[in-house]
Amino acid sequence: MVNIAVLGYGTVGSGVVEVINTNHDIVNKRAGQEINVKRVLDLREFPGDPVENILTHDFEDILNDDDISVVVEVMGGVEPAYTFVKKCLLAGKSVATSNKELVAVHGPELIKIAREGNINFFFEASAGGGIPVIRPLNTSITADDVTEITGILNGTTNYILTKMDKEGADYATVLKQAQELGYAERNPEADVEGGDACRKIAILTSLVYGKNLDYNRIHMEGITRITTDDFKYADKMGYSVKLVGTTRKTDGKLYSYVAPVMLPHDNPLAKIDDVYNGILVHGNALDDVMFYGKGAGKLPTASAVVSDVIDAVKNAGRHVPIIWEDEELEMGTFADSESRFFVRTDEKDEAAIKAVFGDVEYVDSDLDEKAFVTAVITEGEFEACCNKIGVKSALRVLD
Ligand code: HSE
Repeated sequence: MVNIAVLGYGTVGSGVVEVINTNHDIVNKRAGQEINVKRVLDLREFPGDPVENILTHDFEDILNDDDISVVVEVMGGVEPAYTFVKKCLLAGKSVATSNKELVAVHGPELIKIAREGNINFFFEASAGGGIPVIRPLNTSITADDVTEITGILNGTTNYILTKMDKEGADYATVLKQAQELGYAERNPEADVEGGDACRKIAILTSLVYGKNLDYNRIHMEGITRITTDDFKYADKMGYSVKLVGTTRKTDGKLYSYVAPVMLPHDNPLAKIDDVYNGILVHGNALDDVMFYGKGAGKLPTASAVVSDVIDAVKNAGRHVPIIWEDEELEMGTFADSESRFFVRTDEKDEAAIKAVFGDVEYVDSDLDEKAFVTAVITEGEFEACCNKIGVKSALRVLD
């Protein structure tokens, strides 16, 4: 029998206990031995709950218990999660976490401690929730030069954009509905401004390229300025509007950003709706591979965490290598990153537009404005154009 502890009995933590209990026989068979949840840490009381008798408010009860060999961290946030996880690893306990803030900020250090202690630090649920993507990136897509990884990595914003697209509702109305349904947080900033997706693309990029991409270095735009008119244009052009996190290699240089983009309807990511997530990886030998599923939610996320626990149990006494060095990943300058841009402007003189943007493709407009798509230009060139002509809104176009 292997004893484990769960730090945090919120949505994901209670899901972890539920998956272990409900799928008891399957989980134990795959782990090769019985997995017993010995302790649950939370500041709250849970009278009448199955964990009532194993609940503790004191982390030391878990840290100092030599019978606990695997710890699940599902508290969220950097602290106290970082302190607790580091202490567990240094005490020789393997850790499985769903915490993207923790992994994005301290991933390389925690992996190194696990390597030195011949234990494991697993984080499958930290990007893409229940979708198996971390493990495939680490163990399957290892023969390729990966030239692109693009993901719809945030369920809340994908739900909002899908509703705006399908129902023609405006951003504020859909956000309110999403909050009422419990999809969006009362303070939705981390989701709608792109911070959540930014941490996830930083984790995925670091794993693919083996060095650290600090999420603070990633250009980030959220969805708060997207309007129903943008969707009407996109529809007319055969595109969907999606918030993506992307890293692309162009002429040997890596460029990353998080932003809402126009995706052609035949791009598989364009068909990912509601709270679902999808990650498209392009390798020079593999070509395209796509991961799709529930990127959030109690049981899907818990499924990934429990799979990590099983892997930790199966690999007891053996460190499973994860290549993610502390050294910062070399990135191209964002101003050199290239895209086509969809632009809306109050400038109606086509000669004036041509003088600034060169030849563009106009999109029919029912509004008192001009809308067009530029040729492929750099971010720096685009910014210079915007300084010369009033741009109401713009979206990158991914082809
Ligand atoms: N707020 C996140 C989302 C939860 O909406 O995708 C999962 O990380």
